[in-house]
Amino acid sequence: MKAVTIDGFGAEPRLTDLPAPQPGPGELLVRLHAAALNPFDWKVADGALRDAVEHRFPLVLGSDGAGVVERIGEGVNRFRLGDTVYGQFMNVARGHGSYAEYVLVPEDGRLARIPEDLPFGVAAALPTASATAYQAIEAARLDTGQIILVNGASGGVGQSAIQFAVHEGARVLATAAPDIAGHLRDLGAHETLDFTATPVAEQVLAAHPDGIDAVLDLITHPGGDIDAFAALLKPGGRLISTNHATDPEALAAREIHGVNLSSSPSQAELAALADLAAAGKLRVTVDREISLADAPAAVARARSGHARGKTVILL
Ligand SMILES: NC(=O)c1ccc[n+]([C@@H]2O[C@H](COP(=O)([O-])OP(=O)(O)OC[C@H]3O[C@@H](n4cnc5c(N)ncnc54)[C@H](OP(=O)(O)O)[C@@H]3O)[C@@H](O)[C@H]2O)c1
Repeated sequence: MKAVTIDGFGAEPRLTDLPAPQPGPGELLVRLHAAALNPFDWKVADGALRDAVEHRFPLVLGSDGAGVVERIGEGVNRFRLGDTVYGQFMNVARGHGSYAEYVLVPEDGRLARIPEDLPFGVAAALPTASATAYQAIEAARLDTGQIILVNGASGGVGQSAIQFAVHEGARVLATAAPDIAGHLRDLGAHETLDFTATPVAEQVLAAHPDGIDAVLDLITHPGGDIDAFAALLKPGGRLISTNHATDPEALAAREIHGVNLSSSPSQAELAALADLAAAGKLRVTVDREISLADAPAAVARARSGHARGKTVILL
């Protein structure tokens, strides 16, 4: 099978040929029709999980994908041959990932069926970005009329987070470079803040001097100035970071609830997300469709940022 792999941490991704894996007991072999890029893919390639898990090389890159169940191992009973499925397929210990024509997944893994009318490319774009957004907005525990800032709103997670927060009845402040501000308002953002102009926290404070209720920060990394965002929150406010940049204990002393989110969608959550997307209630922007051969260049582009939605590999 064709796949995009790396031979070691920090190595250049390359298109290669590998034997297609065979399903063992309880496993499915999925013929992938689409895979989607996430920042986590290149972070893993750089060694983000090297201290936590043994990796097998060559390592197929990628987590998210969608396709058709082509073979099933002994004892599989939740899925059948021919089912259309999507989910998170990264398994670094076995060298498996989604930038490939085939991938193995345990039947109790992070996958769900997709409704008939949901294109593979859209389904593949959902698992990491939209599930993280869903779990982050759940962690924000928003009430109707509360105000949330989504910092990093123009990317994959942010665009879904805007929609989930609006669904909770919140007023959504979304950071955006000028070229994408209109699109984010279209997705439901009530105010957009140009992070390329003046510091976002200053803009929020000027518009909302009494403070806001929640911040979803998709940008700040450990050691960065997340305090500028914590300072915007009213007592009892919630600060959610997807990059482990908050110190919940220190925030608790200031009556702020800090959450470092590590998203991990259940099969039920994945099924619900696919239904929302198929019904048009969750809009996912696929801004680039590429071939597997173009994936190494797309990974390099993703590292430099400037995502305007999801990049999808059609297989
Ligand atoms: N913990 C978890 O479970 C988890 C899960 C998913 C994602 N994440 C992390 O969450 C982050 C966001 O993921 P993503 O998939 O949404 O990334 P993405 O699709 O690459 O989007 C990032 C967005 O951030 C914008 N941006 C860059 N610098 C900014 C700044 N200073 N202020 C405001 N916006 C800025 C970019 O816009 P411009 O192009 O205009 O610069 C881009 O649209 C990543 O770091 C990812 O690794 C964590």
